[in-house]
Amino acid sequence: MADEPRWREDFPIDWPEDQFVARRDFAKFMVLTSLAFVVGQLWIAAQSVVRKRRGPPPEVKVASLRDLPIGSALTFDYPAEHDACVLIRTRDDELVAYSQKCTHLSCAVVPELDKGVLRCPCHEGYFDLKTGVNIQGPPPRPLPKIRLRVVGDDVFATGVDLTTKVG
Ligand code: FES
Repeated sequence: MADEPRWREDFPIDWPEDQFVARRDFAKFMVLTSLAFVVGQLWIAAQSVVRKRRGPPPEVKVASLRDLPIGSALTFDYPAEHDACVLIRTRDDELVAYSQKCTHLSCAVVPELDKGVLRCPCHEGYFDLKTGVNIQGPPPRPLPKIRLRVVGDDVFATGVDLTTKVG
């Protein structure tokens, strides 16, 4: 004890033992994190299976053409209650609809008809209004496109295309 420096008395920490505990804690953290990833992947896989078994999304009336003048847009939920989408009438005979969730971090995109784009105000992401393709900023993928069918004056959503084809 007499050979020990004075600071040892004030800070009696056993460094090798302390590192051993830290390593064990780190290993525990890594195991728990890996387990969380595995559970997350299983959850995603289960969701995918459930969605496939549910069959095609329903056909839902989302608007009337008389409520949608040329150059206007309206929002609706499809296919589920909280899946916000935007329907845009670009010309007399042309309608487009997309999921309103930006493919970057899910902010709501806003149509800017005069510029021909859908803009995400969160990080200045831009999508082409006619195709939904990501054209500028951080969004990594096109917006999911909502398939539409017009019967008389009524506009129906009939499905969701997750990849927008160009051309
Ligand atoms: S959330 Fe849309 S660009 Fe980031």
